[in-house]
Amino acid sequence: MIICGSVREIRETSRAVRREGRKIALVPTMGYLHEGHVSLVRKANNRADFVVVSIFVNPTQFGPEEDFDRYPRDFERDRVICEEARVDALFCPQVEEIYPRGYSTFVEIEGRIVDTLCGARRPGHFRGVATVVSKLFLAVEPDIAVFGQKDAQQCAVIKKMTRDLDFPVEIVVSPIVREKDGLAMSSRNKYLDPGERQAAPLIKKGLDLASKAFGGGERSPAKLKQAALAEIGRSALLKPDYLEIVDCGTLEPLETLSGKRPALLAAAVFCGKTRLIDNIILGAQNGN
Ligand code: PAF
Repeated sequence: MIICGSVREIRETSRAVRREGRKIALVPTMGYLHEGHVSLVRKANNRADFVVVSIFVNPTQFGPEEDFDRYPRDFERDRVICEEARVDALFCPQVEEIYPRGYSTFVEIEGRIVDTLCGARRPGHFRGVATVVSKLFLAVEPDIAVFGQKDAQQCAVIKKMTRDLDFPVEIVVSPIVREKDGLAMSSRNKYLDPGERQAAPLIKKGLDLASKAFGGGERSPAKLKQAALAEIGRSALLKPDYLEIVDCGTLEPLETLSGKRPALLAAAVFCGKTRLIDNIILGAQNGN
């Protein structure tokens, strides 16, 4: 596995691979890798000949009160996970490599797609994500890039940005990977104390109850949300930040559900101080 710390190195590596006619996949991450990331790498390996994983805790996507400083980091552990997952190159730049002194160029998406859900609660978050993902696309020049469905809004935003800016990159979205009790895997699960960890699976249970009601014919978004919130409300440790039913692609709120077009039921819930996100697609075959 090649390890690159600079844009120049990863670009040269990637261009040499392309000259051999090989297809390149990028899996952007912020490290502290778990099974969810490994599933993205597996998908990347199935779809391309050369897999690049980037590990970069991106400061511009964290708000001033957020967890940038304490976000978990363990490069040696991540390196071993990547070796075992058959990653071909790791791109792990320092902050100054991506944002040198005087850096002042950002990618800003406008409209509903960033003004809702997490975008409404984390001002500037998607500007930071779009900026760093653009820089990663320009550094690695991948044919495809793989993202996790857990960050459903991020996937919608990146797809839109890729279209709007004509990046020649295919965006592939990979299903959520869950713990046995249903909790969506996330590097932030590490923050949970034992009591919070025990309460956290109620989020998925709530989403499942709504999905079950939808399967049983319920088409009122208000009633479906109520079903999910009642389950989540069973633990005093869980405080919903939002729970919304929106169009999967545009993230427009849906007043009624047809059952024909899949809808996204997305939630952000504080579990103690930790903000967890999860989602489920209503009307999809696999209700991951
Ligand atoms: O999903 C993440 O881990 C991050 O938002 C990403 C896409 C790596 C950009 O920093």
